[in-house]
Amino acid sequence: VHFTAEEKTAIASLWAKVDVEAAGGEILGRLLIVYPWTQRFFDNFGNLSSDSAIMGNPRVKAHGRKVLISFGNAIKHMDDLKGTFAQLSELHCDKLHVDPENFRLLGNMIPIVLAIHFSNEFTPQMQAAWEKLTMGVANALAHKYH
Ligand code: HEM
Repeated sequence: VHFTAEEKTAIASLWAKVDVEAAGGEILGRLLIVYPWTQRFFDNFGNLSSDSAIMGNPRVKAHGRKVLISFGNAIKHMDDLKGTFAQLSELHCDKLHVDPENFRLLGNMIPIVLAIHFSNEFTPQMQAAWEKLTMGVANALAHKYH
């Protein structure tokens, strides 16, 4: 994927305002609620028995934060997503056995949570740029699968 200067500026300007702590948990929590079968990867996280249990689960919050911080590396390296996520791709494939389709599902949660947080500021152009980025990251994370 190639990002235009406008797309890079748009993404970086919004990212600077994202509350990674809060948004990370919301993104992962939404994934677990909207696609409940993804819970099986996190069966050691404790209580995931209801929407409110998931959203209030401290391990969901902590891991969501970790994932979103890691996702933030994409914004610093938009011209080399494959290199940036090569090690994590190997980890998710070889050690964690996460089906790469799940990267797309998680990626879909990111624009939704940003739209909720930023409302009108999340214009269609902004959405297009973010969808391109979340797709690029999902592809990069799937790249080392064999
Ligand atoms: C662990 C990033 C998507 C399942 C991790 C770690 C990072 C990370 C940084 C910690 C690695 C370490 O400890 O060295 C990401 C990014 C994603 C993503 C950037 C997408 C943007 C997913 C998805 C799933 C998943 C979609 C499953 C549905 C896991 C699991 C762990 C993990 C099970 C280990 C959790 C534990 O500590 O027990 N991920 N991840 N990841 N990830 Fe991902």
